[in-house]
Amino acid sequence: DLAQIGVSGLAVMGRNLARNLARNGFSVALHNRTSAKTKSLVAEHGDEGTFVPTETLEEFVAALERPRRVVIMVKAGAPTDAVIDELVPLLDEGDIVIDCGNAHYADTRRREADLRERGLHFVGAGVSGGEEGALLGPSIMPGGSKESYATLGPMFEKIAAQVDGTPCCVHVGPDGAGHFVKMVHNGIEYADMQLIAEAYDLLRDGLGATPAELAEIFAEWNSGDLSSFLIEITAEVLGHTDAATGSPFVDVVVDEAEQKGTGRWTVQTALDLGVPVTGIAEATFARALSAHPDQRAAARAALPGPSEAAQKVPAEERDAFVDDVRKALYASKVVAYAQGYDQMAAASTEYGWDIDLGAMATIWRGGCIIRARFLDRIKDAYATERPASLLVAPYFRDAVADGQQAWRRVVAHAARAGIPTPGFSSALAYYDALRADRLPAALIQGLRDYFGAHTYRRTDRDGSFHTLWATPDRSEVEA
Ligand code: 6PG
Repeated sequence: DLAQIGVSGLAVMGRNLARNLARNGFSVALHNRTSAKTKSLVAEHGDEGTFVPTETLEEFVAALERPRRVVIMVKAGAPTDAVIDELVPLLDEGDIVIDCGNAHYADTRRREADLRERGLHFVGAGVSGGEEGALLGPSIMPGGSKESYATLGPMFEKIAAQVDGTPCCVHVGPDGAGHFVKMVHNGIEYADMQLIAEAYDLLRDGLGATPAELAEIFAEWNSGDLSSFLIEITAEVLGHTDAATGSPFVDVVVDEAEQKGTGRWTVQTALDLGVPVTGIAEATFARALSAHPDQRAAARAALPGPSEAAQKVPAEERDAFVDDVRKALYASKVVAYAQGYDQMAAASTEYGWDIDLGAMATIWRGGCIIRARFLDRIKDAYATERPASLLVAPYFRDAVADGQQAWRRVVAHAARAGIPTPGFSSALAYYDALRADRLPAALIQGLRDYFGAHTYRRTDRDGSFHTLWATPDRSEVEA
């Protein structure tokens, strides 16, 4: 019998996706560049469902029912192009190639256009949830044509995480829409983690608490509005003791954060779209700063900080401080999501994707790394009409209004104590800038006009104007 779907690329994510498909009753053809991985998958998990192991791409393609559904799960970039180039000549009109890796959406757009010209479908599908998600139910964000989703969607919806009976998978939109949304998901993942890390840092310094004590605070937060996978595993990581040294695990890890690129792509793309994603940008830059140990050592030796006394939170204020940090974390998180949603909205308009933003919150409720209770609220916020910003949707407006004084106290404390909180601080600055009556952008326009005759608009009448700055009477002309 021919297999219903094939998976090529059997490193941990591909392997687990293949097993997930088989466990859900689909017959899965397997292919890997070296057949050892194919063999070990069948040897170890062959009893989980129907696998059809193959050695060559020709054999793999021949093992699939038509239209063929071929999932490729290889490294983003050149390796993905190499597999596609080898695969395409073996396929027939109407076949579907599905890239489940973390591809850049621009690559996905290019590949989709190429394959479409040859009568093939190309689906860039974001898959989130790490190894465990791939096996037990990820969040899946497929782009590509409607026709391809008609045949692929039911399979993906079956293997995806389910929340309240709803699968965490929906057709995001044409060509690169799926990978774009996955990219923003990852950017938000960066922001979420940076904010959690800042909360940890503030509490650890302010309270002088041990990681194990902080683990309890995060575990408690996980039962409230902040309830999410990342808060849950923060409690786990902080509570973990290193076996070799007996020290808190977090204290033996080198404090230099790495990144594979999706956060950076989110920021680069946001710059082009003109969308301020300051939360994601600060998170990405904070990782970059951490990864410059020599510069940090030089600065540590040269640059003074505040006095010791300024850093401690008095005993009687400890509970209030913990609560303030929780509220500041929540408010900052709302800002990061609001910005990420603005970016998806802008891209949807730019590329004509018509992304249903509420549905993105629905499919992020389970399976993915940023899964969180409050995504239900985002889904609700987009249920009727699109809010000008998530921040002004009633639920979030009230939540942030409730937390804003706490937020200001926390940012002020951080500044006084010398604790770096780029995420909290820039989120608050964004909030204040967005709600300002007048922005100093007016002065910037004046300066631009002064040195470059770049012109400005007036508040009292239409048109573009230029002041003749070099003339004695500085008269104004219409530009
Ligand atoms: C997911 C994750 C996944 C990957 C990150 C890690 O949604 O399952 O986002 O895709 O773990 O991309 O990214 P960094 O290495 O850049 O932190």
